[in-house]
Amino acid sequence: MTYENIYIEEEGAIATITIDRPKKLNALNKATIEELHQAFKELDEDKEIKVIIITGSGEKAFVAGADISEFAHFSVEQGGLLAAKGQELLFDFVAHLSTPVIGAINGFALGGGLELAMSCHFRVASENAKMGLPEVSLGVIPGYGGTQRLPQLVGKGVAMEMIMTASMVDAQKALQHGLVNYVLPQEELLAFCRKLAQKITNNSSVAITQAINAVNAGYNPKADGYAVEIDAFGRCFGTDDFKEGTAAFLEKRKADFPGS
Ligand code: COA
Repeated sequence: MTYENIYIEEEGAIATITIDRPKKLNALNKATIEELHQAFKELDEDKEIKVIIITGSGEKAFVAGADISEFAHFSVEQGGLLAAKGQELLFDFVAHLSTPVIGAINGFALGGGLELAMSCHFRVASENAKMGLPEVSLGVIPGYGGTQRLPQLVGKGVAMEMIMTASMVDAQKALQHGLVNYVLPQEELLAFCRKLAQKITNNSSVAITQAINAVNAGYNPKADGYAVEIDAFGRCFGTDDFKEGTAAFLEKRKADFPGS
């Protein structure tokens, strides 16, 4: 499929999705959300792809939020639908993807931009990155999972402060809060993310998918995370990856996981 608002680069088992609306600071309009859904779906179904990195084009922004021009005149009903559809197509979709997703935050990650970064399985930021949920300054609240994922990552008090003050934190503060795992000079950001991705590709993709499900279950009030973990642990014993991983260890060689 050809995309107008994003582009994809593949390097071995690692795919990088770049959101490409630099003139609008990569703001998420409806078309971009739909393209991102399609891209994540296709890459997740591609068994050659083991890790996905998502970033923004240009040096200024990862994503400066949902596209305000598209929803400024929405009704109550349309507002609710916007949040529901966005969560289903992109934010929950990414959080529950079976392929690991790394958010490479190369600049402003505001509103829906930070919510997209928080949907990724973990995040790395460049030194110039600035993050925040400024929605209450627009008379609305975060609607793409921000009120849930921000407290999970930084704790309730810091999340409340960030949401209520609508202010941004810089990359170092985000690191201190646990919102991002590393901070790098901008020119090193993608290479560093690809190095991390490479490390992930050395491991069993089947086991990683089970681990993503088990970790996510712990944040789902309707699920019992420990029970999901037990079930996922057991399932691993039926995989070719488990046979290869344990055999390789016992034979003192590097595992070559078949990914099944
Ligand atoms: N939705 C739609 N357009 C956006 C946008 C958004 N969330 N964020 C930025 N843009 C557009 C601007 O309207 C501007 O377009 P124009 O050149 O056609 O006027 C362009 O991107 C550049 O932004 P600009 O505001 O001129 O850049 P800046 O360097 O002065 O400020 C920000 C950068 C990020 C501080 C500022 O753009 C901003 O506050 N954006 C909105 C952030 C926000 O509230 N996001 C949450 C949305 S729910």
